Amino acid sequence: MSPFSTLDHLECPRCGATHDAAVLQGLCPACASPLLARYDLSAVRATPAEVGTRPPDLWRYHELLPVSGPEHVVSLGEGMTPLLPAPRLGAELSIPRLLVKDDGLLPTGSFKARGAAVGVSRARELGATSLAMPTNGNAGAAWAAYAARAGLRMAVVMPVSAPTVARAEVVVAGGELTLVDGLISDAGRLVGAAIAAAGDGWFDAGTLKEPYRIEGKKTMGLEIAEQLGWRMPDVIIYPTGGGVGLIGIHKALSELVELGWVTGPLPRLVAVQSTGCAPIVQAFDAGARESLFWEDARTAAFGITVPKALGDFLVLDALYTTGGTAIAVEDADLLTDVALAARLEGMFLCPEGAATVTAARRLRASGWIAADDEVVLLNTGTGVLYPDAVPVDAAVLGRDSPYALEPISRPLSELNSLND
Ligand SMILES: Cc1ncc(COP(=O)(O)O)c(C=O)c1O
Ligand SMILES: [Zn+2]
Repeated sequence: MSPFSTLDHLECPRCGATHDAAVLQGLCPACASPLLARYDLSAVRATPAEVGTRPPDLWRYHELLPVSGPEHVVSLGEGMTPLLPAPRLGAELSIPRLLVKDDGLLPTGSFKARGAAVGVSRARELGATSLAMPTNGNAGAAWAAYAARAGLRMAVVMPVSAPTVARAEVVVAGGELTLVDGLISDAGRLVGAAIAAAGDGWFDAGTLKEPYRIEGKKTMGLEIAEQLGWRMPDVIIYPTGGGVGLIGIHKALSELVELGWVTGPLPRLVAVQSTGCAPIVQAFDAGARESLFWEDARTAAFGITVPKALGDFLVLDALYTTGGTAIAVEDADLLTDVALAARLEGMFLCPEGAATVTAARRLRASGWIAADDEVVLLNTGTGVLYPDAVPVDAAVLGRDSPYALEPISRPLSELNSLND
């Protein structure tokens, strides 16, 4: 039998130093880079077939996750979200083999549940009792829920302009919420300074400030491979803020190749940003290894308003080494695509997720995506979290007003085939 986890050590991707994974770790003490978890993959005894018989949550990949035993798992049933064919949207975009990985179905409404489940589980296992983090909203919502489930304290700082639903999600779970009149970068400075001033006890759970959130996010890549029958798609398109998901998918698929569970080239990874905040795109276009701070960042896709990501060099590396690309899309276009995906497929994507639709259209039009490419879009949250993104114009009737439906001029079957 393999051990529950094959976690071996932590490695610094910048200076190469290795660190003990058995104690709480933040950034690399030598160079302040994020640390990455490394596994002894030779100790994995499970086979893809055996994994396929396990319960449908992300813990089915426990050998490739950092939590040392089932007794340390904090779960709300996260993972194994559907990978849905999107034939009508695909026809519209001229990408017949279009798939949507819908993480809007996760606890708290976004893919942040993956990182929170694994991050909170591991932090508690290693003795943390009080966590603090800056967030654009969804991560704070998820971490507050999992901290409540784990019996930990959770302090969250988010921009006042973040979607207001996230405030309620934090507060209802007993999180200690503070709003800042600024961006996530300002929230990060406040959290860092407050932790330093408070002395021992608080643990910084900010994006890539600890090594295990990324391990949770990596399960998106593991699930995509399993759901395709242990195979990889040609292209994966990801709405990129801090870039944790993109780094995680790249790490997951590299680990699966090393295990021999999948073969062939990695998918070309695509980072999508908004033209209102596109530091990764700017760096990619310049062929740079790191990004520059993006001044005056703003976009309707709030989750990807990250002016400078701590792991930018890892995101760019994932793009360069897979032959991927980075693309910025307009807010007006991604908001139109929220409506398009819902109308054609019944999928109410979050604005960040809809940005991948806009990006796919543009990349297909330029020929970067070929007609027969199998393309996975990542919808990172449910549109239900962003009710203000959709203008609603509905008549309000008095209780006794007449209500009439238009006479049907054609049978529904005919209407459907017209839309196809
Ligand atoms: C809905 C949504 N999509 C995408 C992102 C960006 O995530 P990442 O840090 O993995 O780039 C966020 C982050 O807040 C988010 O809330
Ligand atoms: Zn280092």
